[in-house]
Amino acid sequence: MNHPAHQPTESLAGWRAAPATPGTALADVDTPALLLDLDAMEHNMASVHARIRAAGISVRPHAKAHKSIDIARRQIAAGARGICCQKPSEAEVFVRAGILDILITNQVVGPQKCERVARLASQARIGVCVDHLEQVRQIGEAARANQVRVEVLIEVDIGHGRCGIASASDALTLARALQPYSGNLVFGGIHAFRGSAQHMRDPAERSQAVSKAVAQLKEIVAALEGEGLNCITVTGGGTGTYMLEAGSDLYTEVQPGSYVLMDTDYAANRNVGDTPMLRHALFGLCTVISVHPGHAVLDGGLKAFAVDQGLPRVLHAGWTVKSLSDEHTVILRGDEAAPLNVGDKVRMIPSHCDPTVNLHDWLIAVRGDLVEEIWPVSARGALF
Ligand SMILES: Cc1ncc(COP(=O)(O)O)c(C=O)c1O
Repeated sequence: MNHPAHQPTESLAGWRAAPATPGTALADVDTPALLLDLDAMEHNMASVHARIRAAGISVRPHAKAHKSIDIARRQIAAGARGICCQKPSEAEVFVRAGILDILITNQVVGPQKCERVARLASQARIGVCVDHLEQVRQIGEAARANQVRVEVLIEVDIGHGRCGIASASDALTLARALQPYSGNLVFGGIHAFRGSAQHMRDPAERSQAVSKAVAQLKEIVAALEGEGLNCITVTGGGTGTYMLEAGSDLYTEVQPGSYVLMDTDYAANRNVGDTPMLRHALFGLCTVISVHPGHAVLDGGLKAFAVDQGLPRVLHAGWTVKSLSDEHTVILRGDEAAPLNVGDKVRMIPSHCDPTVNLHDWLIAVRGDLVEEIWPVSARGALF
């Protein structure tokens, strides 16, 4: 059955103005806006990629953090072998932009999605994850019908308790199930990512979590390779653990996403040894719209900042965030804080970069106090 992808009749981007143009002074950017500090982003990208390459493995950054073609292109130019996406519709945006090596780090279920993946595989190198025979059947049928090759990685649950099989025998069952689709489904190896390990504050705890995962994965890889099923790729790891996977003598690539932007949640991690220090590159810019003796009100709230990992941090000495509502943030003035006036601009650091970016149409790329470029959040809302 053919499921044509529905094309919107109008480009959404054409309807929405950006809050600045290149050359605008930072002070004149309309708000709320999402700022991307290019110097900080370039520092994060260069230092993390260099460390991963020095460890002799590949970096495949997760594009779900930024959803930006412009950032993905820079990641590839800075040595990334490709990118990760989480959904087929997200991958479509990047393939259309010429990024032709994408791992969908997720299970792809349903005829529409499998058809989309098969079509992408006619234009690009596409990998997907499986943890159930039904997913193998669905993606196998779509790949066969479209006469394309899709790389399949078996997802292993290394403690996150989300997707993934846990035993060598389940991995063998899944890998063998690819054989009827040989030529269309290609066994690539293992995907193993533990989100909860990324945010363990104590480096020793993170290290222990990765060591435990590596021991589990080594058994599974040995069982697969014992049957002639070569695990060319073992991939996983995020901003909190990528150096540990890189030093594991098992992982062949890592998938950090947030590293390029950073947020307050990651900044609360204690750094491991000589892991590069990351700089905040992502900021919300708001305007003070109302002032009172003990507090001020900003013009961006829950529609500008995700709060699932806590409140954003205000970058104005002595001021703290009290609460957010749809279009407002209330900030409190500490005893020593200088007053804010109506019209002042205030920077905020988001607590969780991925869902914050997905709230915005534009990234305002700034260098120093000047807007250099305006980048669309190209894959914003690509959720299916
Ligand atoms: C499968 C997978 N890989 C990589 C990442 C990137 O993680 P981070 O943004 O913490 O670096 C994520 C994020 O949740 C993920 O789900």
